[in-house]
Amino acid sequence: MPDLATVSLSPALQQRLRSPLVIGSVTVPSRVLQSPLSGVTDRAFRQLVRRYAPSSMLYTEMVQATGVCQAQQLEKIMDIDPSEQPISVQLFDCRPDFMAAAARKAVAEGARTIDINMGCPVNKITKKGGGSSLLRQPEVAAAIVRTVAEAVPVPVTVKTRIGWDDDHINAVEFARQMEAAGAQMLTLHGRTRSQGYHGPARWEWIARVKAALSIPVIANGDIVSVAAAARCLEQTGADGVMCSRGTLGYPFLVGEIDQFLKTGCVPPAPTSRDRLGCAREHLGLLWQYKGQKGIHQARKHMAWYVKGFEGAAPLRQQLCQIDTVEAGYALLDGAIANLVSPAALAR
Ligand SMILES: Cc1cc2nc3c(=O)[nH]c(=O)nc-3n(C[C@H](O)[C@H](O)[C@H](O)COP(=O)(O)O)c2cc1C
Repeated sequence: MPDLATVSLSPALQQRLRSPLVIGSVTVPSRVLQSPLSGVTDRAFRQLVRRYAPSSMLYTEMVQATGVCQAQQLEKIMDIDPSEQPISVQLFDCRPDFMAAAARKAVAEGARTIDINMGCPVNKITKKGGGSSLLRQPEVAAAIVRTVAEAVPVPVTVKTRIGWDDDHINAVEFARQMEAAGAQMLTLHGRTRSQGYHGPARWEWIARVKAALSIPVIANGDIVSVAAAARCLEQTGADGVMCSRGTLGYPFLVGEIDQFLKTGCVPPAPTSRDRLGCAREHLGLLWQYKGQKGIHQARKHMAWYVKGFEGAAPLRQQLCQIDTVEAGYALLDGAIANLVSPAALAR
């Protein structure tokens, strides 16, 4: 567990980070963002993150622009509740006209900003010219940003990586091109496409991009705790941080970092009882919003929630097989009843 007493920021940085995040015409009172996570950041998950982080920017799962235009994926952005604001819809594709049409629909559904995915490493997407393959086609990427920015009245932002691979790290030049094309904020995941999600995020590239741009730069990659966020902000000078895998089974993280940036104090960690209670609520929300499909999707979330608990392995195994909401509740209620002490788990 990090020594929380040592988590601190230099006074000048602290002062800057207490001011709101300004993304073009949109002002967000928090500099900690919940990243888009495919298969995770649906309405149920966002509702939990929002409770602990009342003013942070949330993101939908990435949505394919063509899918939105042809309506198959419209449902993924049609379930935005007003309580989720501010929320951004993230789109991926490589055709500027489809992206613009999808962005208009997303704004009609309540998107406060439109984020363009230029970081997804998945073959299925990069082969079709979307996600991180745009790093290799900066002209197409710029055309997307320009066309979408002209099509919608809300800010357009970009989320990308530092480069395709170690021989092609082009983050600074690419980021400058996106800014020139009209991007109002850039989130940089400090890994190359070929790294996938492995190895440490290279925050030094985030510092270089921050130094080169006038628009806000958000640091992403390995922001797994308040201590990591503080270290990253000190090292990069970034305008904020975006949390990703650190929030899996832990929707408290964005709020914890936000509270630290606003007050300078690290909030107490949720107890085991809090975490299991949150898992129970998450399961209930997935059931309420998605029915049986939600129960199957809940299995992975439940496994994440119980990670690190004493005797978690058999519980995890059972949670990974639940078929009904009642079965999940019974397992979680049993685990809560068996807690010897409600002490906070180390992170
Ligand atoms: C399960 C999963 C789903 C993801 N889905 C998206 C997505 O839809 N859009 C996106 O821009 N990035 C997506 N990412 C990447 C994350 O947003 C983030 O950039 C990456 O995980 C690095 O941060 P981390 O090291 O803190 O996890 C996903 C990552 C994971 C693990």
